[in-house]
Amino acid sequence: MKWTVDRVRKIKGKGKIVSLTAYDYSTAQLVDAAGINLIIVGDSLGMTMLGYDSTIPVTMEDMIHHSRAVARGAESALIVADMPFLSYQVTLDQAVDNAGRLIKEAGADAVKIEGGAFRAETVRHLIANGIPVMGHIGLTPQSVRAFGGYKVQGKSDAAADQLKSDALALADAGIFSLVLEGMPAALAADITASIDVPTVGIGAGPECDGQVLVVHDMLGMFSKFTPKFVKRYAELGEAMRNAFAAYKQEVEDGTFPADEHCY
Ligand code: KIV
Repeated sequence: MKWTVDRVRKIKGKGKIVSLTAYDYSTAQLVDAAGINLIIVGDSLGMTMLGYDSTIPVTMEDMIHHSRAVARGAESALIVADMPFLSYQVTLDQAVDNAGRLIKEAGADAVKIEGGAFRAETVRHLIANGIPVMGHIGLTPQSVRAFGGYKVQGKSDAAADQLKSDALALADAGIFSLVLEGMPAALAADITASIDVPTVGIGAGPECDGQVLVVHDMLGMFSKFTPKFVKRYAELGEAMRNAFAAYKQEVEDGTFPADEHCY
């Protein structure tokens, strides 16, 4: 059965949301077949797929291109496409135009935007136009320049209070789910207990209503840096390097192709 925003919303207090990123057709198929509920086509693709050093340069065209491929690969999972930096911040009309493209042209089920209470108006506007919205607060990567690096957020009492009121404002504006990234576990637990929409944590401890990981991180395919919160469930990077080296060796020594590979 297809995951809908309503089904995700109703999971609060009853079970866990299990989410991963995906950026292409084949990975989306595998993630979907494993029963993952929610696929985020994250703008982290700027780093994992395109080799940028942040999510800042990612464009709407990048997001549409990758979201389309994921939508073709996933049958059951809810597909949430990230709105890239400066695609929703300038005007409300711009936000609707761009979010609409991700739904209409790319086949996403919902969009995700970063930011706290100051985004509540944008959230309301998108929802009023029929576009479901996932929020994202804490260590929001599009603000990396403003934060001065990838730093855990909400460590002081004042910063924690701000994040909690951000969560309340976004929930009140109508988001169906909220990503909590890079914050103390106790704060994420407090926010999770304070709002009636499910939270999905990444580097935010075990008390969230669900978890998300970047697929390249959990498969060991991205080696530039590995945040503390990442658990590696496989070492595919190493397996790929070994496979490429074995292939090179066999082509060079003439053992590939063998008889069974020939017509
Ligand atoms: O871009 C991304 O990968 C994200 C994660 C929180 C899933 O936003």
